[in-house]
Amino acid sequence: MEFIDPAKVPQRTLYTGAKMPAVGMGTFGSDHATAEQVRDAVRGAIKVGYRHFDCAACYGNEDQIGEVFQEAFQSGEVKREDMFIVSKVWNDMHGKGDVLVACARTLRDLQLDYLDMYYVHWPFPNYHPPKCDVTERNPDSKPFSVKRFMATWRQMERLVDMGLTKHIGMSNMTLPKLKAVLPLCRIKPACIEMELHPCFQQQELYDYIKSQGIEIVGFCPLGSPDRPERDRTPEDVADLQQPVIRKIAEAHGVHPVLIAIKWAVQKGHTPIPFSIKEKNYTSNLKCVTEDPLTDEEMEEIKGMECNNRLVKGQVFLWPGATDWRDLWDEDGTDALWDKD
Ligand SMILES: NC(=O)c1ccc[n+]([C@@H]2O[C@H](COP(=O)([O-])OP(=O)(O)OC[C@H]3O[C@@H](n4cnc5c(N)ncnc54)[C@H](OP(=O)(O)O)[C@@H]3O)[C@@H](O)[C@H]2O)c1
Repeated sequence: MEFIDPAKVPQRTLYTGAKMPAVGMGTFGSDHATAEQVRDAVRGAIKVGYRHFDCAACYGNEDQIGEVFQEAFQSGEVKREDMFIVSKVWNDMHGKGDVLVACARTLRDLQLDYLDMYYVHWPFPNYHPPKCDVTERNPDSKPFSVKRFMATWRQMERLVDMGLTKHIGMSNMTLPKLKAVLPLCRIKPACIEMELHPCFQQQELYDYIKSQGIEIVGFCPLGSPDRPERDRTPEDVADLQQPVIRKIAEAHGVHPVLIAIKWAVQKGHTPIPFSIKEKNYTSNLKCVTEDPLTDEEMEEIKGMECNNRLVKGQVFLWPGATDWRDLWDEDGTDALWDKD
């Protein structure tokens, strides 16, 4: 097993001054990996030098991952303060008093006293059972509402006050939603987690977030090549099979995956690639410590943008919504929100 010195991995500085490793490990096994396989991968990843883990209650594996964290701290392999551990409140826990309960459960499962980052996973209280079909709709689902979101965010802020998490963040936001809620925050999000890969760069949202002094974490950084069939649509593009990526990968003599990771880190955000294979997760971390892309290669990848959103979120639609585009404010306005 190879060890990549965590000091050699680029770091992001959050507005609090805290450091976050610029590559994290994703932990969403979906249909591809069991909780035990993810647990074993996290164990291996700590040994390899990963210090940033992207967890979530809805991934259904926090108690297994917690065993590994506990082992690593007790054996002295790594200190808690050298890790950046993330979780997220799921959509069925946005109600009054629920966010604290959700955070407490996650802390219990991960066997931690505090989190480094706690995200609102989706900006809607719209629940659906794991592995349901994309055509399923929950009749209780609701459009976005600033008032509802801020009621959830106030609970998130209390978690910081209580010392249960060092930072709070948002995920799956849009430009109109962020512009509406950021001025209302008492405690600003330190990170925004969003889908980002070469064929989906969300540049306008990206620039706005950076302009607010907020760090960006990119999910599905490899274009989620093993996502389940039910989450695919015919118009999806396979990022890593595009000629630009293949050509650059050939020039560097590496797998196209590593080009996507190098690009993300050099562009300025923090990718969180998922893998259960030691060889793969090792190379995913190591690649950012050597052989950077040239400015020309970065420019070429910039040109790959084609609005290739893969996580569409169909299951979060509310009765009366037309299609998944309604979730993403594609007209740039708040026209579809609840204005209560
Ligand atoms: N906030 C949100 O709403 C949200 C949504 C989606 C995802 N996420 C987070 O983002 C993480 C990453 O997204 P993702 O898991 O969908 O997709 P991803 O990281 O884009 O792709 C993961 C896939 O790539 C393969 N892979 C990884 N490294 C490789 C390598 N070096 N060579 C060849 N293949 C490689 C993996 O297979 P092997 O296991 O076989 O290596 C895995 O199936 C998730 O795990 C989760 O933590 C967050």
